[in-house]
Amino acid sequence: MLILGIDTSCDDTAAAVVENGSKIISNIVSSQTDIHKKYGGIVPELASRRHIELILPVVDEALKGAGAGLEDVSAVAVCHGPGLIGSLLIGCSFAKALCFSKNIPLLAVNHLEGHMFSCFLKEGSLAGETEFPPRIPEFPFISLIASGGHTSLYRVDGFGKYRELGRTRDDAAGEAYDKVSKLLGLGYPGGPVIDKLASEGNPKAIDFPRPYLPDSFDFSFSGLKTAVLHYLRAEEQKSAPPQPPLGKGGIEGGVFSELLNFCSTALIKNIAASFQACMVDVLVRKTEWALKKEGLRRITLSGGVSANSELRKRMKEMGDERETEVFIPSINLCTDNAAMIASAGYHHFLNKDFAEIDLNPKACLPL
Ligand code: KG4
Ligand code: ZN
Repeated sequence: MLILGIDTSCDDTAAAVVENGSKIISNIVSSQTDIHKKYGGIVPELASRRHIELILPVVDEALKGAGAGLEDVSAVAVCHGPGLIGSLLIGCSFAKALCFSKNIPLLAVNHLEGHMFSCFLKEGSLAGETEFPPRIPEFPFISLIASGGHTSLYRVDGFGKYRELGRTRDDAAGEAYDKVSKLLGLGYPGGPVIDKLASEGNPKAIDFPRPYLPDSFDFSFSGLKTAVLHYLRAEEQKSAPPQPPLGKGGIEGGVFSELLNFCSTALIKNIAASFQACMVDVLVRKTEWALKKEGLRRITLSGGVSANSELRKRMKEMGDERETEVFIPSINLCTDNAAMIASAGYHHFLNKDFAEIDLNPKACLPL
């Protein structure tokens, strides 16, 4: 069974064709990074305008890449939230029109559920995989979703059976990466560049706080981000001659981006490595606590931050120590894509959980 997936929840226009919920036949992601990079983050209005231009060619390319027509597709699965409302509206309106005009069933998928099910995907013939069907997680498992908009831990007992154990109280993990990157003048998105620089720095160079929030599975990363800001301010004051006073932008304004001449490249690498060490310690340790508390031996890790090389390594090491299976999608499936929406959509289809044609997207949509 082929499902056409569509995701326009943020700044990527994505469409994919997936067979039986796991085998990727085609997977197209058109990134808008170049548009938003110069603003240091996503500009929602620009994102939705670009989705309008891209949605038709991207869906077309996904179908052509799969060698399929709409008549071969059993259903269209679309992400209906959470996300930027203007962006979500484009994908949802497009999917509804397609389904209505061609009489195809419509499936509504939560973006976080999509990330969770990215662990059930394999590139199949796309990546020349020999092992198929892929080894997919069995239920129950602990799921950590760490992305630009969300950081949450779930206990998952089956499709649709999700219990949230904890979530971020302020910044999401990816958001903290992006904001620290902005402070360091490294641009957007911050995760990949900090990941790279961190691999060349000393993770023990600076003792940033590790926000464990004991007695809770919640996360909080804004204090860690502020600690990086304070560290940079102190470094700036140490430097001579004195730098101009801080601008009014504060953290959001990337106050240091033009002034980072007080930091050597080696220091920036050490800051990146020390920040990343805190982030990874907290994410891995809290996942381990959740495993212990729930008495489980299976983890899935997904969302954009799961592309992080250190996090992938440390989560696998922790899994090995605890004789626990760890499932992490291949790097290109960690960040937003529509194959994950098609994968989750497949299970909605099996459950006959179809969406109505009056489906409306929601910016806030709990899982
Ligand atoms: O899942 P995603 O594509 O979008 C959301 O649903 O939010 O995640 C994007 C986030 C960005 O914050 C980006 O900086 C982060 O994932 N990210 C990374 C890495 N690659 C992307 N964070 C840490 N290390 C990476 N290698
Ligand atoms: Zn996402």
